[in-house]
Amino acid sequence: MQFDTIIRGGTVVTAADTFRADIGISNGRISALGDDLGAADEIIDATGLLVMPGGIDSHVHLDQAGAPGIVMADGFESGTRSAAIGGNTMVLPFCLQQKGQSLREALAAYQAKADGKCYTDIAHHLIITDPTPQVLGQELPALIAEGYTSVKIFMTYDDMKLADREILEVLDVARQHGALVMVHAEGYDAIRFLTERLERDGKTAPFFHGPSRPIPVEREATHRAISFAEIVDTEAMIVHVSNRAAMEEIRRAQQRGQKIYGETCPQYLVLTEKDMDRAGMEGAKYVCSPPPRDSDSQAACWEGLQQGVFEVFSSDHCPYRYEDEAGKLAPKGKQSFRYVPNGIPGIATRMPILFSEGVVKGRIDLNRFVALTSTNHAKRYGLYPQKGTIAVGSDADLVLWDAGREVTITHSLLQDGCDYTPYEGLAVTGWPVRTMLRGETVMTDGQIAPVKGGREMLRAR
Ligand code: URP
Ligand code: ZN
Ligand code: ZN
Repeated sequence: MQFDTIIRGGTVVTAADTFRADIGISNGRISALGDDLGAADEIIDATGLLVMPGGIDSHVHLDQAGAPGIVMADGFESGTRSAAIGGNTMVLPFCLQQKGQSLREALAAYQAKADGKCYTDIAHHLIITDPTPQVLGQELPALIAEGYTSVKIFMTYDDMKLADREILEVLDVARQHGALVMVHAEGYDAIRFLTERLERDGKTAPFFHGPSRPIPVEREATHRAISFAEIVDTEAMIVHVSNRAAMEEIRRAQQRGQKIYGETCPQYLVLTEKDMDRAGMEGAKYVCSPPPRDSDSQAACWEGLQQGVFEVFSSDHCPYRYEDEAGKLAPKGKQSFRYVPNGIPGIATRMPILFSEGVVKGRIDLNRFVALTSTNHAKRYGLYPQKGTIAVGSDADLVLWDAGREVTITHSLLQDGCDYTPYEGLAVTGWPVRTMLRGETVMTDGQIAPVKGGREMLRAR
């Protein structure tokens, strides 16, 4: 048999196994695993490298509209380019419904923004901000049936938060039609109350973003979201969990037998509230929600990853430029932390940080690394086994990984549209050296190929 490509000499790692095998690729799919596979048009030497399923980042924001005058630093082109630099072959960005907008209108706009621009495959989650009877009764069920099987809802943010009754309604439609609801669990009223008190006391610097949404704000909302899922008798994913109390809410729900899933992100492993405590506006570079916490919260997030309380590790890439009035230095943001756009970049650094801090430091093994960065995302969001594993018949979405490569993270390596990385100067061991999407090389040694072959995928759950 003649293959299009053979990857020879590498160590294959899946969520289950680590083994020596060559990989034969035909028509964009894995068509053989074995020794001495024979001839191919292209032979890629992977001696000394790990060969893993391409990363799947199921929580990224690209070209998403924000407050007036605020512009996201990455669209689909730069965002997916940076994703490929970091070893990813698929990302799941959000399609935000503006108030008064139909879901289909919103989706068409995001599809137009993404069309022909992606270096990785993509699949959209829907963000529901306006759950009208038309949206809940007709649009959402129809879109779920077409393959848009995940929706995010917010318990905070002025233009996005849903009332408790609305959360229950969305959960119920998701239950009936087979979608997964992702919940941003921070309580709006408590944040407003604390923000106004801090501002009255003249505490307006970026650092006070943290005290405006402390751990109980997240714990309370997490508990409420889990209770609502229990009332409706459905599943839910609590995203970007930052601390022990929220992690334990999820763990208790899982122990009771509820289908509650958890996600955490790099910022909760390697950043703390101290990062927001910098001169001038520098702290704004680290403002995201929930905010980075303290060392016990970091330890709890590791525990959640080690014990399976968190099944996915995502970036929550939400990039705003720093030296930019349309970004972190927004004029109103200089008056109060409350106007600093929330979110930090991290699409390229997610896998290297987890590998270095997790695998190299002995906190997790290689197979859990693959599960947390790829396989579990594919399984949870309806992409498996086409995506997220190395098996005959799966898409040849692969990352070749140099486990010993020492890199000091610096922004110029990442090729995103932002002007900084919150991880500047972080030394990591382990780095992606080749990313392949459906058998085509997209990135080699930090060079991006001019192939924009990323496609939108629909999903069944
Ligand atoms: O601060 C964050 N995380 N911004 C992104 C939007 C979100 O809530 O995921
Ligand atoms: Zn969120
Ligand atoms: Zn997010």
